[in-house]
Amino acid sequence: MKKIGIIGAMDLEVDALKKEMQVSNIVKRASMEFYEGTLNDTNVVIVKSGIGKVNAALCAQILIDIFEVTHIINTGVAGSLNADLDIGDILVSTDAVHHDMNVTIFGYQLGEVPQMGLREFPADAHMIEVAMETCKEVNPDITVRSGRVASGDQFISDKATKQFIIENFKGDCAEMEGASIAHAAYLNGIPFVIIRAISDKADDSAEMDYPTFEKAAAKHSAKLVAHMICKL
Ligand code: ADE
Repeated sequence: MKKIGIIGAMDLEVDALKKEMQVSNIVKRASMEFYEGTLNDTNVVIVKSGIGKVNAALCAQILIDIFEVTHIINTGVAGSLNADLDIGDILVSTDAVHHDMNVTIFGYQLGEVPQMGLREFPADAHMIEVAMETCKEVNPDITVRSGRVASGDQFISDKATKQFIIENFKGDCAEMEGASIAHAAYLNGIPFVIIRAISDKADDSAEMDYPTFEKAAAKHSAKLVAHMICKL
């Protein structure tokens, strides 16, 4: 039976979804609270992972091992790396890459995970399609694009780092969890998609923009997730 694991790094990324769901059980593992129940008549487990790639990967593995989720969605906010993605817009992942992985000294491509033969972790085609279609229905005034999520344990807030990620990884948005969730999902053969609403431009304006726009952006992403899960 279908059961969707929904991960957000911060309270503001999952609170709206938790409020809407019917909770049947709350389980604590690895200092994270997993809310089991239904949302829009769909079985879900909703959890705040905490920030960064290690928290997010642990969280994804627990969802898979303990809760036996069939799909994973990562919802949240991100900095834009694409001039066509403005604050408030939504990016649906085609794939995700670790922009802070660098073992080039031993001949690997920048970003390639050594001995895995893989640099980009592809999101599930059906989940991408459902997310894109649903977004146009429920958020008709918001621009939605599909593209690459670039993740690292860094908040990107300067032009040089932004440019580096664009040039080397062709990322469309920068955040701090997606690739590790994608990585865990890939290793376990679980379909995933990352939904991120843009809170800032990942440059010198990010320090000001992020606190101003994070709440509204997180809501856009959560709204899409709530409406797409019944169609998976
Ligand atoms: N999440 C939201 N904005 C971000 C940024 N600029 N860098 C990393 N993670 C983010």
